[in-house]
Amino acid sequence: MQIHSVCVLGGSGFVGSHLVNRLHMEGCRVRVLTRHRERSRHLLVIPTVEVVEVDVHDPMRLREAMGGSDAVINLVGILNERGDQGRGFHKAHVELTTRVIDACKRNGTRRLLHMSALHAAPQGPSNYLRSKGIAEDHVMAAGSAGLQVTVFRPSVIFGPGDSFLNRFARLLRLSPVLPLAKPNARFAPVFVGDVVEAYARALRDKATFGRRYDLCGPRIYSLRELVLYTRELIRSRTIVIGLGETLSRLQAGVMEYVPGKPLSRDNLRSLSIDSVCSGENGLMTLGITPAPLETIAPQYLAHRYSRARYAEYRSEAGRARAY
Ligand SMILES: NC(=O)c1ccc[n+]([C@@H]2O[C@H](COP(=O)([O-])OP(=O)(O)OC[C@H]3O[C@@H](n4cnc5c(N)ncnc54)[C@H](OP(=O)(O)O)[C@@H]3O)[C@@H](O)[C@H]2O)c1
Repeated sequence: MQIHSVCVLGGSGFVGSHLVNRLHMEGCRVRVLTRHRERSRHLLVIPTVEVVEVDVHDPMRLREAMGGSDAVINLVGILNERGDQGRGFHKAHVELTTRVIDACKRNGTRRLLHMSALHAAPQGPSNYLRSKGIAEDHVMAAGSAGLQVTVFRPSVIFGPGDSFLNRFARLLRLSPVLPLAKPNARFAPVFVGDVVEAYARALRDKATFGRRYDLCGPRIYSLRELVLYTRELIRSRTIVIGLGETLSRLQAGVMEYVPGKPLSRDNLRSLSIDSVCSGENGLMTLGITPAPLETIAPQYLAHRYSRARYAEYRSEAGRARAY
């Protein structure tokens, strides 16, 4: 199968930026659709990448912008919405996916790769997992109707630029005490490099048509273990206090009103299912050996946050201007 050009929705984000670079290395021409060109600034320097600003929720404009590509990759996803009714999730996950499928059909684009999430299901416990599950089922149904579709369902993804370990690192740097909701929730963190490798391999592999792949890292950790590991890497002395169910809910209720919604009740509902692979790990099926967290995280966490700390020490010593 010849894939020379790929259109990526959500290409400006964490996974998208890694994937766009990977596709560029494969020799693909990549068109990134974004709502804000400014957010994709970092991609403009890649010679084979075109960034198109478009309202992806407008069906006509979406179809136009998606035209002429051999394959489409939809990475769009949100972890939180305004309010708690599920409307934002429905719009970003279900409605947009339906429009992407429709545009593929009308444009004659046969190949569609779709990003979902581990344990996404129409009957899932949270608006996030339910909307992801419904979207995923639409994609699979389009597969049965002739599109060449592949769905990926990762656990939490780590790597340079992630918003998971980096967020905890920032919190640990800011505060002497970190109250941690759902400390016993379990994850199998998967390296972003492995996730984009799975996309790159699947793009041209007919065996992946009509299939869903759960993607997990090689080890399972509790949230508490991940935060303590991050603390060790950045050499923080912050005290981490695990919260019980009631306090976790209380914390989420309050955090929903903090700008950027760092935690929500819907996030807690998602965490009621452990984010670990229960069956086959799709990475292994695709011939990819999942990278351990311990070989990657120190490269971007220890370096980044220890530099910040060093600057702080210098500043405290009144010598910051020397730099
Ligand atoms: N990161 C993880 O740990 C993880 C784990 C499991 C699954 N996933 C899934 O993987 C995908 C990529 O995750 P990520 O971490 O790279 O996310 P991200 O950094 O937040 O990027 C998401 C992208 O989606 C677009 N987007 C956000 N809200 C949108 C909306 N309302 N309408 C249209 N576009 C919107 C944004 O593009 P523009 O702003 O440029 O338009 C952004 O580039 C998501 O579908 C996510 O659910 C991620």
